[in-house]
Amino acid sequence: MNALTAVKPAVQRTTGFTIAPSVQSPRLLELTFSAETARQFLEQVAQWPVQALEYKSFLRFKVARVLDDLCAGQLQPLLIHTLLNRDEGALLIGAEGIDNVSQADDMVKLATAVAHLIGRSNYDAMSGQYYARFVVKNVDNSDSYLRQPHRVMELHNDGTYVEEVTDYVLMMKIDEQNMQGGNSLLLHLDDWEHLEQFFRHPLARRNMRWAAPPSKNVAKDVFHPVFDVDHQGRPVMRYIDQFVQPKDIEEGTWLSDLSDALETSKKILSLPVPVGKFLLINNLFWLHGRDRFTPHPDLRRELMRQRGYISYATQHYQTHQ
Ligand SMILES: [Fe+2]
Repeated sequence: MNALTAVKPAVQRTTGFTIAPSVQSPRLLELTFSAETARQFLEQVAQWPVQALEYKSFLRFKVARVLDDLCAGQLQPLLIHTLLNRDEGALLIGAEGIDNVSQADDMVKLATAVAHLIGRSNYDAMSGQYYARFVVKNVDNSDSYLRQPHRVMELHNDGTYVEEVTDYVLMMKIDEQNMQGGNSLLLHLDDWEHLEQFFRHPLARRNMRWAAPPSKNVAKDVFHPVFDVDHQGRPVMRYIDQFVQPKDIEEGTWLSDLSDALETSKKILSLPVPVGKFLLINNLFWLHGRDRFTPHPDLRRELMRQRGYISYATQHYQTHQ
């Protein structure tokens, strides 16, 4: 067998990282930076604490460039291609040796670098920063299901109640103690058995009102339909059950049916996200949620999120290099 007929190995090695399909789905890829890449990255960005990245937004792009250079320029095109590819659009990303809560700042830096190779993370009104870290505990008195551990957080898109474009969502696990259950749940729109039925319905394109609870620090309602199309006419979604405000029984019952059809899908992927790793998904054709946890008095989970847009300039870069 010569090189041309050899079967491609499942794991591709490139400079600085490996990439392979996940066991859960060929649509979800696993990207792992080598310990040496992580070490060199952290050494080269050591001069900038996380606070510096918060204060000077151009430094987020600088650390992104450092990471891509360590990967011989192969990381940025791969990230963009995967995220924009309708058949994929999702990555589970981590680095060898970054797996403990004591490295939380390193985790934020690595995730920031990856996010800013594809675009820019939006201002997060919940934290007042470009990212948000938050804790899930056994007891919660918040006003949404985000931090409530004992129930499923239903499948949804992010950015439904803000004006900013939210092309991607990045969700990182910073810490986990006494945790059973609580897997991340993902559903690709094209895998959903009921997509056609709901996408073709007259209410799919009706403007609806979206309003967030007080903890989100977003006072203004926004109006948009549940479904839209991308530049090739394919369905995309902007939906979350908790924040849509149907105006009458017609909208309310249709949304309730839609919710049931999502939650009962047989195509939902359920996966654990280990400490130090993060999911990076295309928010327009992937829905995400979280399974329930088993109660435990000392349960603790800390998460970090970033949401943002995939920049035109970055896409241009990819197309014309
Ligand atoms: Fe979310």
